[in-house]
Amino acid sequence: MNWVESVYSKHYEWGNLFAGGVVDYHHEKAALVKQLAGPSKKRILELGSGGGQTACAMAKLGHTVVAVELVQGAHENGRALAKELGISNIEFIHGNFYNVDFSDRFDVVCYWDGFGVGTDEEQHKLLKRIDGWLKPEGCALIDVYTPWYASYTAGIESPISAIATRRYDFDADQCRWLDSWWPIEDKAQMVTQSLRCYSPADLRMLLQGTGLTLDRYEAGGAMDWQKGEYHEKAPLKKAMYYTAKLIQE
Ligand SMILES: C[S@@+](CC[C@H](N)C(=O)[O-])C[C@H]1O[C@@H](n2cnc3c(N)ncnc32)[C@H](O)[C@@H]1O
Repeated sequence: MNWVESVYSKHYEWGNLFAGGVVDYHHEKAALVKQLAGPSKKRILELGSGGGQTACAMAKLGHTVVAVELVQGAHENGRALAKELGISNIEFIHGNFYNVDFSDRFDVVCYWDGFGVGTDEEQHKLLKRIDGWLKPEGCALIDVYTPWYASYTAGIESPISAIATRRYDFDADQCRWLDSWWPIEDKAQMVTQSLRCYSPADLRMLLQGTGLTLDRYEAGGAMDWQKGEYHEKAPLKKAMYYTAKLIQE
């Protein structure tokens, strides 16, 4: 997992990912909290909060949010964005979610678009930590990438921004989605994100001994690369990811 900070720093530098502020994607993630965890206002821990846009969208809905992010520039973007939007019910923490700890527990722990950067052992350790952060009736909402979508994308190249491009690959033996980015002008600077993919059956096995169990899941979207269209909702067998709702055993 040593690659995490350097790779995501480059994503944020090359991808122009903070430009639009809070957009539909972030509001849709925020709306999932009500859909999967119920209508009351929650105390939420967001892991790997990136530029803080979803944290802002969740806070705007009345939730109280603690947002943890490893990459300094992304963390700072979150703070600045919340200030600009006049949002005060978010605490931004610059840190590693394998090290940080909290005095209070949470109704919801969410990890949008990022689970799987580690080994199975590391993911298992993180899930145990999440169990320890939850209130007894709480739940975790975690986006989990699917092997079939990752395999389908192998070999696809697509632009990221005006200055960068990406290429997908799939390590079938290790079941990891490989996503390489580089500046168009200098391919030698390529960085690769490597994400462990789990079917729901695999996830149930990973969860053994963590204190958490898979309660339900919602299939996410998928890109139709032949038509160049992104579909917000796809059947699980085609979806890029599913959002898993985990509860305590
Ligand atoms: C693919 S990005 C997604 C960001 C955001 N959740 C979103 O949906 O836009 C994953 C984020 O998780 C962060 N991250 C990965 N491992 C982390 C760790 N151990 N502690 C804190 N943040 C971490 C990365 O720095 C990156 O910003």
